[in-house]
Amino acid sequence: MKSRVPRVVALTGAGISADSGLATFRGAGGLWEGRNVEEIATPEAWAADPRSVWRFYQERRAALGGVQPNPAHRALVELEQFLRGIGGAFTLITQNVDDLHERAGSQPIHMHGELLQLRCENCEGRVRDAKHFACDQFLPCAECGYARLRPDIVWFGEIPFALDLIAERISTCTHFLSIGTSGVVYPASGLLSMARASGASTFVNSLDEPENLNSQDHFLAGRAAQVLPQWVSEWMQQWSQ
Ligand code: APR
Repeated sequence: MKSRVPRVVALTGAGISADSGLATFRGAGGLWEGRNVEEIATPEAWAADPRSVWRFYQERRAALGGVQPNPAHRALVELEQFLRGIGGAFTLITQNVDDLHERAGSQPIHMHGELLQLRCENCEGRVRDAKHFACDQFLPCAECGYARLRPDIVWFGEIPFALDLIAERISTCTHFLSIGTSGVVYPASGLLSMARASGASTFVNSLDEPENLNSQDHFLAGRAAQVLPQWVSEWMQQWSQ
């Protein structure tokens, strides 16, 4: 029996950070435009040409210092605070590897990892680093001395993080929000139908219809920085009545 109090799960993609100035992956000007994903975002690429892979991620890591959270990130923080205040629940899952949700005040589940975290393939140690951005210098592991830490990013062919926790939260949610994702990368793209199957009302915001949109989903086209604050304020009014 689902509780009457709303239990919201939000899934975000690159589109929510687009309004902060970070490039999305697909579409005009996307990170994958003119690039072969297989040569950048796979373990095989890292093994074959670590310098190119490292450069790609170091450039994105360095760019984080020049961008700020936008009203869409802040709207999700406001929604979470409101829900907690009425005894509801809120879970934020992000495919994004930037730290904009955190800087807005959220604690997201980073299912694809984080740019500001590096991982040692030798001792599996992880370190947060937000100051070494040189593209032509690898960073050694301070724990075991291994020559080069890798980005703690889930590459194609690797298993995303926290899938069990994500499935558990979706199984009990009453509302599911999909924001700024093209819905083409599995398993993230399957979460919308998982929420629908668990009886949640599903809401989708994107510039254009994502691949995984279904006729039962409430679709709202537009920029997240404009759409989300409006949605959240309408919901808070509705749930306050
Ligand atoms: N507001 C809302 N949506 C937007 C905005 C915006 N301002 N700008 C772009 N979008 C939408 C686009 O219409 C598109 O549907 O965001 C989506 C971006 O899609 P992608 O670039 O494919 O990004 P994403 O869905 O997050 O990619 C998923 O693919 O390459 C992997 O691991 C990578 O996490 C990434 C995953």
